[in-house]
Amino acid sequence: MTQFVIHPSIWQYDTCQAFAQDFHLGPQDLLLTNEFLYTPYFAPLNLPCPVLFQEKYGLGEPSDEMVEAIYRDMPKEVTRVIAVGGGGVLDIAKLLVLQHVTPILDLYDGKLPLQKARDLVLVPTTCGTGSEVTNISILALLSRRTKKGLAHESMFADQAVLIPELLKGLPFSVFATSSIDALIHAIESSLSPKASATTKLFGYQAIAWILKGYLAIRDQGPDARFPLLSQFLLASNYAGIAFGNAGCAAVHALSYPLGAVYHVPHGESNYAMFTGVMKQYLAIRSDGAIAELNAFLAQLLDCPPEAVYEALEDLLSCLLPKKALHEYGMQEHELAEFTDSVLANQQRLLQNNFVPLSREQIYAIYRSLY
Ligand SMILES: [Fe+2]
Repeated sequence: MTQFVIHPSIWQYDTCQAFAQDFHLGPQDLLLTNEFLYTPYFAPLNLPCPVLFQEKYGLGEPSDEMVEAIYRDMPKEVTRVIAVGGGGVLDIAKLLVLQHVTPILDLYDGKLPLQKARDLVLVPTTCGTGSEVTNISILALLSRRTKKGLAHESMFADQAVLIPELLKGLPFSVFATSSIDALIHAIESSLSPKASATTKLFGYQAIAWILKGYLAIRDQGPDARFPLLSQFLLASNYAGIAFGNAGCAAVHALSYPLGAVYHVPHGESNYAMFTGVMKQYLAIRSDGAIAELNAFLAQLLDCPPEAVYEALEDLLSCLLPKKALHEYGMQEHELAEFTDSVLANQQRLLQNNFVPLSREQIYAIYRSLY
């Protein structure tokens, strides 16, 4: 049984220019990115490759309709897709390299063969998803009112490229939501039944870097993040390696309906679910991996192990205020609706729960956060 894989080779450059030169970006490459990244970093390089901007196909996180429109416009003769962007852009690129892409609903329902037709280079510009090292693509399936992940070997990048200068312009709110997502990847994967000593090595290091960074931001203000951007980018990459092997779980599963229906950014919707899920786990089982994790968090947060979730919430609230679910517009009747949606659509994630959660327990988490 495979224990641990890092599929893409991982590269790091100080500048986009050094990356473009080394990777010989040319006419056979599609550059998928956003205009606000292209203009400062790539336009001055006069690259000969075709370029598509994700935002021209709709705002917000990627959906099935967005990918179908981008695929229609993609020059089919390209042999390599270079994606430079946040998790959404990278997730879209993972689908564009496949032989059969549309209809997307068929692809996500397992009705199309998954074969890779092009090379893939992923360059993250947020410090959150770790998408550059995972084979998962998350899309909002608009007609189904939820998000769903598709994961397959053929969707791994060939190269993952870390360029810290791309994070300099990240607004503080995006820095906050994306790095909270990375923290949750590291925590969920460390509690997963699929976790191993190796995945925890990456997950725990990511937790330590992120929390030490947050403590600096709490004490010195938001600008304290700038000298730490390389560290946050690497933490996000490590958390991606950890959850790419051990998986994410209930926090992500419960957050998807909120993200899909109320367009709450991924990291923020995870944050809304995070401590609710952890407290439910702890009520069911307080020994094993959760005790080990809480002892580690207690050390970093300088608090007793039984107070870690309160201390964590205090620290995270310095970056992003925590809201109740009704503040996002969620209606009371949706507590049951979202619970059923999680059970119907998110079994891939629920398998990785620290302890199994029943329908009643999932409903109780939503209720406690409402
Ligand atoms: Fe995530």
